[in-house]
Amino acid sequence: TGMFTFDPGFTSTASCESALTYIDGDEGVLLHRGYPIGQLAENSSFMEVSYLLLNGELPSKDELAKFEFTISRHTMLHDQLRTFYQGFRRDAHPMAIMCGVVGALSAFYHDSTDISDPEHRKISSHRLIAKMPTIAAMAFKYAVGQPFLYPDNSLSYTGNFLRMTFGVPAEEYEVIPEVEKAMDRIFILHADHEQNASTSTVRLAGSSGANPFACIAAGIACLWGPAHGGANEAALNMLKEIGTPDKIPHYIERAKDKNDPFRLMGFGHRVYKNYDPRATVMQKTVREVFDALKVDDPLFETALRLEELALNDPYFIEKKLFPNVDFYSGIILNAIGFPTSMFTALFALARTVGWVAQWNEMISDPGQKIGRPRQLYTGPTQRDYIPLDKR
Ligand code: CMC
Repeated sequence: TGMFTFDPGFTSTASCESALTYIDGDEGVLLHRGYPIGQLAENSSFMEVSYLLLNGELPSKDELAKFEFTISRHTMLHDQLRTFYQGFRRDAHPMAIMCGVVGALSAFYHDSTDISDPEHRKISSHRLIAKMPTIAAMAFKYAVGQPFLYPDNSLSYTGNFLRMTFGVPAEEYEVIPEVEKAMDRIFILHADHEQNASTSTVRLAGSSGANPFACIAAGIACLWGPAHGGANEAALNMLKEIGTPDKIPHYIERAKDKNDPFRLMGFGHRVYKNYDPRATVMQKTVREVFDALKVDDPLFETALRLEELALNDPYFIEKKLFPNVDFYSGIILNAIGFPTSMFTALFALARTVGWVAQWNEMISDPGQKIGRPRQLYTGPTQRDYIPLDKR
């Protein structure tokens, strides 16, 4: 009609202003509040990055300690939620449980519903960040039929999560420092990624004034898909299916075949037309975790070889398809002991901080309006109703 810009998939539309995260897709640059992701992954912690995303600046020692303490005060779930879990089948996908439980939090916190009050928003944000590890660990425990473990606030955010996931009441659980560090780094690498599909979903849901728990549940639903956060699960399943390096060429040919829906999972990105800087860190972390756990996984060789062959193939070169964050993460998570079905739940856990930071940024923007895209109508023009006996 000429009245609107037609941009399906939002390939060229900026939906908001944001001061959180910067991506230069051609150069493969990712900055949070100006800090390069490589430096944060190397030197920072997930709690510190969370503080940075929420507040705009790196915390002082005291500010960080206070933030960590505050988060630790919110790690428990309302006891009624234990019953909520029992309603799911034991073989429910953890993401189905995450959507349900996080959405259900809306029904538990009526004391912080005034989203125009920054203090209320802060409490809701802290609750969400603090409870995600508990919710994800309980989804895992429920599937394997082990008792839920309460949080242990003497541990770090990430150490506590590992204990709630892999610990059992019958034994002392010892957090392996290298594994804790790797897990924390994986959380940092997933913390935020500007206006990706799930973050845009959170913003759109939040733009109507909906409560933050419902908004984050919407984000989790969007993240689940294999084109987005579900790619980490799909990527490891793909590597398992490929198995040995000699099978790789067959799968590369399939990925190039336009009549075959198969794609290389963990490859390609809407914004990165260069190596995803998160994949660089992830690849390095694989070795560190293998060394710490004294394990090896032949799938890592398969992944490295797949990357090498794809990056030398004209199809992938021409379309600028590179490994993304999801390509190597599964190998690490698998080595740590997570089943593939938990991978996307871990992504959701970490991305929650980005979602709440973006939601806060949106609500505090004085120019904020309800998100309401237009359309190009392609249906019939006006016509008269025909009575049933005349059809
Ligand atoms: N394997 C084979 N071909 C691919 C792939 C792939 N993984 N990704 C893109 N292409 C081709 C695609 O067929 C298309 O070819 P043509 O122009 O001939 O039709 C071209 O590259 C552009 O792809 P597109 O689907 O139009 O690009 P997009 O920006 O809409 O999609 C994407 C981006 C990430 C959904 C896509 O690359 C993909 O499906 N990758 C696999 C899933 C994946 O790893 N997702 C995780 C993304 S990173 C983590 C996150 O943020 O969730």
